[in-house]
Amino acid sequence: MIKQRRLGTPLSHSAIKVMLLGAGELGKEVVISLQRLGVEVIAVDRYENAPGHQVAHRAHIIDMTDGAALTALIESEQPDLVVPEIEAIATPALMELEKAGKVTVIPTARAAWLTMNREGIRRLAAEELGLPTSPYHFASSLEELQAACAEIGFPCVVKPVMSSSGKGQSKLDSAADVETAWQYAASGSRVDAGRVIVEGFVDFDYEITQLTVRALDGEGALVTQFCEPIGHLQVHGDYVESWQPHPMPPLALQRARDIARAVTDNLGGLGVFGVELFVKGDMVWFSEVSPRPHDTGMVTMASQRQSEFELHAKAILGLPVDTTLSSPAASAVIYGQLEEPAIAFEGVAAALALPGVDIRLFGKPQSFARRRMGVALATADDIESARTIARQAAQTVKPVSA
Ligand SMILES: Nc1ncnc2c1ncn2[C@@H]1O[C@H](COP(=O)(O)OP(=O)(O)O)[C@@H](O)[C@H]1O
Ligand SMILES: [Mg+2]
Repeated sequence: MIKQRRLGTPLSHSAIKVMLLGAGELGKEVVISLQRLGVEVIAVDRYENAPGHQVAHRAHIIDMTDGAALTALIESEQPDLVVPEIEAIATPALMELEKAGKVTVIPTARAAWLTMNREGIRRLAAEELGLPTSPYHFASSLEELQAACAEIGFPCVVKPVMSSSGKGQSKLDSAADVETAWQYAASGSRVDAGRVIVEGFVDFDYEITQLTVRALDGEGALVTQFCEPIGHLQVHGDYVESWQPHPMPPLALQRARDIARAVTDNLGGLGVFGVELFVKGDMVWFSEVSPRPHDTGMVTMASQRQSEFELHAKAILGLPVDTTLSSPAASAVIYGQLEEPAIAFEGVAAALALPGVDIRLFGKPQSFARRRMGVALATADDIESARTIARQAAQTVKPVSA
């Protein structure tokens, strides 16, 4: 339900209670923003000592794709708001609870359900809302995929319908690549190992995240506000660098925001959305949307008066938000590099000595080579300088065995 919440005292009868489903680095920052407003926060993830667990009032470890376990936890904690931070959640259980009036899901249970499956959000955007997207087909067998790829043409991109961060995703240059792509998709899929989307490859000039916030203004009227566009660089479907503001011609920016508004109006509710768009000249294609803060939006911790996490925390409580840019800035990911628990970090002091730099280390208990363990942030007079310094800072921080 869309309303302003009266804030209270955590751990008391007046508390507003918020449950985060997913407690990674993005959830951790949302928790910190909620803590600053005296909200009681319950962080849930599938492993012990997740980043968000470490800053919440209570931590729970459950398999969030298990509808019964999720329902039982929500019924015992009775949060005012349930805030999904990841896609892999038993969203049908959330829809049941929301329908029964037992909980408010951010932004809505339907939005969480539609966006966890590429088929749901793609059909909504392209077929119901008529937004420009890459050409696409769905396939549930190798034979169907071969036919679908032949129709879409090459190059094309194959992705499991249930996956994120580029998992199971590949670019195909010819029919000879189809079988490998099918096997790879099955390995990277989260739930339904048998269904993929094939998309025509969009030869974009650049891609952006249009952070879009649905919030109440001071009078209680629902308003949609836009952040400056965030440019980003993806390697194997995973973000490695982002910067804000990404310059755009006025017509392309207008189209980006029209698309973002159309999608977020339909998904409804309150909070931040990360609308992913491809841009070429004045042409803009919708790619996908996260109904929550976006990983590329970590740059807003340096670039905006209120980070995307603060925007999300305020918006979901029915409070007004400010999307003003304070400085051009960039972010660069710090990867684990090592495959071991409890790593240490060298070079943090040297990185922080660089001009305009800040560092976040997420506190993840286990490092993997390509696991995101931290991020370097840099403000500068322009985005090119900010990118150079952020990259340099990220490289200066060295994961080491403790
Ligand atoms: N149809 C496409 N054409 C060109 N590049 C694409 C296409 N689909 C995905 N990509 C590239 O792969 C990245 C990850 O794809 P995306 O659909 O956003 O998956 P995920 O849900 O894993 O983030 C995109 O940010 C973009 O760089
Ligand atoms: Mg994406």
